[in-house]
Amino acid sequence: MGVGVLGVGHYAPAKIVTNQDLEKTVDTSDEWIRTRTGIEERRIAEDDMDTSDMAYHASLSALEDANVKPEDIDLILVATVTPDTPFPSVSCIIQEKLGAWNAAAMDVSAACAGFMYGMVTAKQFIESKVYKHVLVVGAEKLSKITDWSDRNTCVLFGDGAGAAIMGEVSESKGILSFELGANGSGGAHLYQKKDGFLSMNGREVFKFAVRQMPDSSVNVIEKIGLGKEDVDYLIPHQANIRIMEAARERLGISEERMATTIKKYGNNSSASIPMALSESVKDGKIKENDLIVLVGFGAGLTWGAIALRW
Ligand code: ACO
Repeated sequence: MGVGVLGVGHYAPAKIVTNQDLEKTVDTSDEWIRTRTGIEERRIAEDDMDTSDMAYHASLSALEDANVKPEDIDLILVATVTPDTPFPSVSCIIQEKLGAWNAAAMDVSAACAGFMYGMVTAKQFIESKVYKHVLVVGAEKLSKITDWSDRNTCVLFGDGAGAAIMGEVSESKGILSFELGANGSGGAHLYQKKDGFLSMNGREVFKFAVRQMPDSSVNVIEKIGLGKEDVDYLIPHQANIRIMEAARERLGISEERMATTIKKYGNNSSASIPMALSESVKDGKIKENDLIVLVGFGAGLTWGAIALRW
């Protein structure tokens, strides 16, 4: 049997904050943000909307897409670094909201690689026939840990959620290979400070990511004995267009075959990859049997990549 994605969904808050809006509050420019990051605007959740609300909306949409009922979910895994509160977990909050009463629930903390860790964890439970359906979500309200007076970070992030229902698919489909990794010695480059705000050494994170994303993308393809030319579509973590381009160029695939939501959503941490996956599916950019590479990196430092036959 294979383990793959049965349905996808995503949610982006309605409020748009453009680069021009940020020009009015910090010493930055639309030109600087666009050329250094590829971001033009981002979505910001209102005060009364927390991470679990976005996770809930994305999950409902994924359940509908997969035609799976909430009571048929066996496990909920929410990847997030911005839970509503440290406990209860976002997974438990959405279990109640969805009425997924038969599901075990826990959050996964691997920053922007969190959705990769979640998908791979789901695969183990499904493959071993312990569980049939796992709801994997990436959801973030990064705006609440963003120091809006710090131009180094506030231009980068946005809020949102993406979800996938995972389950059994036919033998040759689903997750064909994966790679997960971590290097705790890079923790100081990206962390949440005692005052609650995010702190980042952009240059160090950039150096790490621009090497790791291309390497991991190639590794998962080589693991299954395929070549770069076999890749149909790339879904990289949407942190910086220059890092994403490095992965795309290493795989040698054309621009249209890379998911690029960063322009309108910015960096949504663990929500970036599932939001991009869901949008790509809904926009018809992914076809049956396509070989997709999903790849992410984040605070920890962590990384993860998956080769997925759709
Ligand atoms: N507007 C204008 N100038 C700015 C801004 C801004 N918003 N931010 C920084 N600058 C300035 C800096 O102060 C610096 O000025 P200085 O030379 O006088 O000190 C100058 O621009 C250049 O800074 P660099 O660090 O050289 O810029 P760089 O080209 O590296 O781009 C960036 C910075 C975009 C942050 C880049 O390093 C990057 O994308 N790094 C990776 C970030 C990332 O992927 N983070 C993942 C987080 S995911 C997670 O886990 C939440």
